Amino acid sequence: MTEQPIQLQKLHGKVAIVTGAASGIGAVTARHFADHGARVVVIADVQDAKGREVATSIGSHRCTYVHCDVTDEDQVESLLVDSTVEKYGQLDVMYSNAGITASSVQTVMELDLSWFDKVMEVNVRGMAACVKHAARAMVGKGVRGSIVCTASVVAEYGTESATDYTMSKHAVLGLVRSASVQLAARGVRVNCVSPGLVGTPMVSETLKLGAEEMKEMMTAVYSESSNGPLMEKHVADAVAFLASEDSAFVTGHNLVVDGGFGTKS
Ligand SMILES: NC(=O)c1ccc[n+]([C@@H]2O[C@H](COP(=O)([O-])OP(=O)(O)OC[C@H]3O[C@@H](n4cnc5c(N)ncnc54)[C@H](O)[C@@H]3O)[C@@H](O)[C@H]2O)c1
Repeated sequence: MTEQPIQLQKLHGKVAIVTGAASGIGAVTARHFADHGARVVVIADVQDAKGREVATSIGSHRCTYVHCDVTDEDQVESLLVDSTVEKYGQLDVMYSNAGITASSVQTVMELDLSWFDKVMEVNVRGMAACVKHAARAMVGKGVRGSIVCTASVVAEYGTESATDYTMSKHAVLGLVRSASVQLAARGVRVNCVSPGLVGTPMVSETLKLGAEEMKEMMTAVYSESSNGPLMEKHVADAVAFLASEDSAFVTGHNLVVDGGFGTKS
């Protein structure tokens, strides 16, 4: 992706945060935001070396990395949101995307409740902390901002083998729908994207697949797609839409990005 001409820039002059941006969907979306004219993109993650690398590759004049574990509310509030507002004047866009997946294939009968706690801590508690503090920063400054969360196609149906992850993504929908109603009158919109299967490190590490095996699996899942497999860029396009004025009257929406193949993931 390259920088868009100014008249096509959806996020011209905006200050944005992207969590979980050291890798996968978050990293590609952070770059997409910068290409769409964001004044600054603050990327937050716990993988410091990778996060710094992504920020440097996007460009230090418009992207910066912050270590922030989203499960720690103090870090979300002070290291991420407050410091962004102090440095750049306001927060226009929060893309709360950091997440982890199930540790193993599991039905409810094999549910590992200690890992369940971890999944809920990152995917639900972390997401809630990011929405909470972004909303407070936007309302506090009178900014008509946009908050976007990453849910998943599994947020709306049951799965055979990922009980904890599926539960966590259902909760993201509850968060987005409630926050959107509560913040509507303050001009802050809250939406989520729900990707189908994307071949990111999260998936290859969980399924223990090498690059070639991963490619084969993605080709098989999307074998009937005339557009090829779902890529991070497709998700980033949807997030940029929700983050921008193009979706000025859209709130509380779950934007599924799966090409119609979500139920195959
Ligand atoms: N890849 C898929 O098929 C898929 C499908 C639907 C939804 N999602 C969701 O998309 C989001 C991004 O996933 P991805 O596939 O790009 O995976 P990824 O593993 O490539 O990226 C996730 C990032 O989140 C970061 N992270 C994890 N815990 C964190 C914490 N406590 N604090 C801050 N950062 C933390 C990780 O370090 C990583 O950089 C997740 O919420 C995931 O559930 C992924």
